Amino acid sequence: TSLQSFNTFGFDYQAEFLAVVESIEQLIASVKWAKCHDLPVTVIGGGSNLLIKGDVAGLVIVNQLSGIAVHYSYDDCSEVTFSAGENWHNCVAWSVDQGLGGIENLALIPGTAGAAPVQNIGAYGVEVKDTLQRVTALDLETLELVEIEANQCGFAYRESKFKHEWKSKYIITSMTVRLSATPTLVLEYGGLLQAMPSSPTIRDVFETVCHVRREKLPDPAEVANSGSFFKNPVVSDVVYQSIRTQYPEVVAFVQGKQWKLAAGWLNDRAGWKGYQENGVGVYPKQALVLVNYTCQKADALLALEAKIKASVYKTFGVELEREPVLLGGPV
Ligand code: EPU
Repeated sequence: TSLQSFNTFGFDYQAEFLAVVESIEQLIASVKWAKCHDLPVTVIGGGSNLLIKGDVAGLVIVNQLSGIAVHYSYDDCSEVTFSAGENWHNCVAWSVDQGLGGIENLALIPGTAGAAPVQNIGAYGVEVKDTLQRVTALDLETLELVEIEANQCGFAYRESKFKHEWKSKYIITSMTVRLSATPTLVLEYGGLLQAMPSSPTIRDVFETVCHVRREKLPDPAEVANSGSFFKNPVVSDVVYQSIRTQYPEVVAFVQGKQWKLAAGWLNDRAGWKGYQENGVGVYPKQALVLVNYTCQKADALLALEAKIKASVYKTFGVELEREPVLLGGPV
């Protein structure tokens, strides 16, 4: 079965077997079936943080578990559980409609609720770990549902244990966030404040984030992409100072004793913004986003990635790291 419609880059590779699951029972049955046939299991959600570069052996499960439930509310707080297959932006919009805040800065991030904890999605000064209480997951060994507290997940910038040591151990079935009717709005980041009315509400933040994102990020439905293609690299003060001596306008955010450099700025300054070759390119409004215009396969994109990495390393001495997860093909 082709995976083309299951990854936002639109690359056309095959899954050996594919199951779209809409209930826990279907999920468990699919995993059991794979175990019986001794096949590896790979789970995908919205496919928006994936770089598929070859056929995928074994069973690919597309997680479409749906449902939103308010666990309990007290005072102005509510715990809300989103099933893993729910579209993340719809979860954010639903919360804003209920007057609940905490995730409004994460509006319009592509993908599903179940994928949000995997890479600890973040934008405009907020990360999903800030409101996440726990996730429910299927333990692939015991085939039982377990609850995992947020503080066990090893969250860091675009990182969690789900991306690494728990990759083949758990399938996330739902995630629970604690939201508030009177949240402290986070407005300091990325020009939000300037774009906001005075005394903003939760909905004002939501709408401003949607507006700012639409201005500079391509909608995967129109131009195939996976959001930021590189992480913003974190470097030592020594490295940062040496770059700043040569490029006083370098964009960086302090991170304790280190600096997080804006990879978009590095790519832009290295001359990549708007570049195109062989059907792929660098988005003209945001140099951190690689786009696929016409390709069916990932080769041209991987070649472009290698060129950008080499040129940024040559220009600034900084190693870029890929953000989307690699899937399929020979390693
Ligand atoms: N910049 C340039 N040229 C560019 C792109 C950016 O000079 O082509 C400069 C901007 O002017 C700005 C700085 O770089 O001063 C940072 O850019 P921006 O605010 O657009 O954010 P970012 O660091 O590029 C990060 C996240 C995004 C998130 C935004 C907003 C990463 C890897 N990316 O991008 O997340 O939406 O901040 O908070 O951390 C994603 O992970 O897929 C993603 C889109």
